[in-house]
Amino acid sequence: MILEKEVLLKVENLNISFESMRGDLHAVRDLSFEVYPGETLGIVGESGCGKSITSLAIMDLLPATAKVDASHFYFKNQNLLTMNEKEKAKIRGSEIAMIFQDPMTSLNPSFTVGYQLMETIKLHFGGSKIQIKEKAIHLLTQVGIPSAETRLKSYPHQLSGGMSQRVMIAIAIACKPKLLIADEPTTALDVTIQAQILSLLNDLQKEYNMAIILITHDIAVVAQMAERILVMYSGECVEAGLIKEVINNRKHPYTEGLLASLPSSQNSRQHRAKLPSIPGLVPDLANRPSGCQFNPRCKYTANICKENNPDHISFDSNNHIVKCHTPLANQEAT
Ligand SMILES: Nc1ncnc2c1ncn2[C@@H]1O[C@H](COP(=O)(O)OP(=O)(O)OP(=O)(O)O)[C@@H](O)[C@H]1O
Ligand SMILES: [Mg+2]
Repeated sequence: MILEKEVLLKVENLNISFESMRGDLHAVRDLSFEVYPGETLGIVGESGCGKSITSLAIMDLLPATAKVDASHFYFKNQNLLTMNEKEKAKIRGSEIAMIFQDPMTSLNPSFTVGYQLMETIKLHFGGSKIQIKEKAIHLLTQVGIPSAETRLKSYPHQLSGGMSQRVMIAIAIACKPKLLIADEPTTALDVTIQAQILSLLNDLQKEYNMAIILITHDIAVVAQMAERILVMYSGECVEAGLIKEVINNRKHPYTEGLLASLPSSQNSRQHRAKLPSIPGLVPDLANRPSGCQFNPRCKYTANICKENNPDHISFDSNNHIVKCHTPLANQEAT
């Protein structure tokens, strides 16, 4: 099937489940989204809502116990579900790259930064030893690592959290990917370093015209970085749309809850940690509630919410969608 030219990644009705002792755990349910060249899509949601496994499915890095299906799962014109290993390997790392959630565990502690970066360059571009080294130095400089040549000899444990993250970014962008999946790229970092890393990602995006899927539980980061947002709850998309539209006109009570923890710009992030979060817990995948998955935590729950899981409804021409029986009234109008 030929896709519209401008869509880079198209995911339709993605389902991910895991075989387990407690039966099949259906972790991602009918998730659909698109990513366009050069844009940033923010995926936000609490811990366990399926952000990482969605990106691992795109990278084909889920364990063998995972079952992945979708009615449409395409990168450009290539079907990610049916391509062979060779085609997958070509896409992974060269067209789609990922910064993993934990940089400390994604860098191999036994090898120097230079070795790990140069292996990636060698794999994708080849070249003489000198050329590969020069490219590695250039990449480390580009991601803001001072004394890059000396740093090539460092081992991961000799780097700070921010430096490790920069090295991970250098490895990810080595092949100039068209899509970068950044899974919680700044969570472990303090606030100043976080701002630097986000600004680095912004600069690289412009330079390479690279699309970014930015995954985070921090809606403030998405608000700052993304054009569009997808809010996930318990493996489902509960609201999506242009970031300004969703923030100003949130329709889903869960999005409202996430936004309540968004500090005003004067507040520091340290303050936010003390702000109240949404009461209650995400559903146990082996024991999902009937109806809307958010209904046990929702302050607007009606009978229908306990009976039927709602379909998505659309709110404007910019594809602002919400999965709720009782969407919130227009914020601007109230
Ligand atoms: N290998 C696995 N086997 C069984 N269940 C799994 C496996 N990997 C993930 N899950 C489950 O899938 C769900 C989604 O996990 P995922 O790691 O994608 O969450 P997340 O949104 O990235 O959370 P976090 O913000 O904590 O990183 C969770 O309930 C998790 O327990
Ligand atoms: Mg995760």
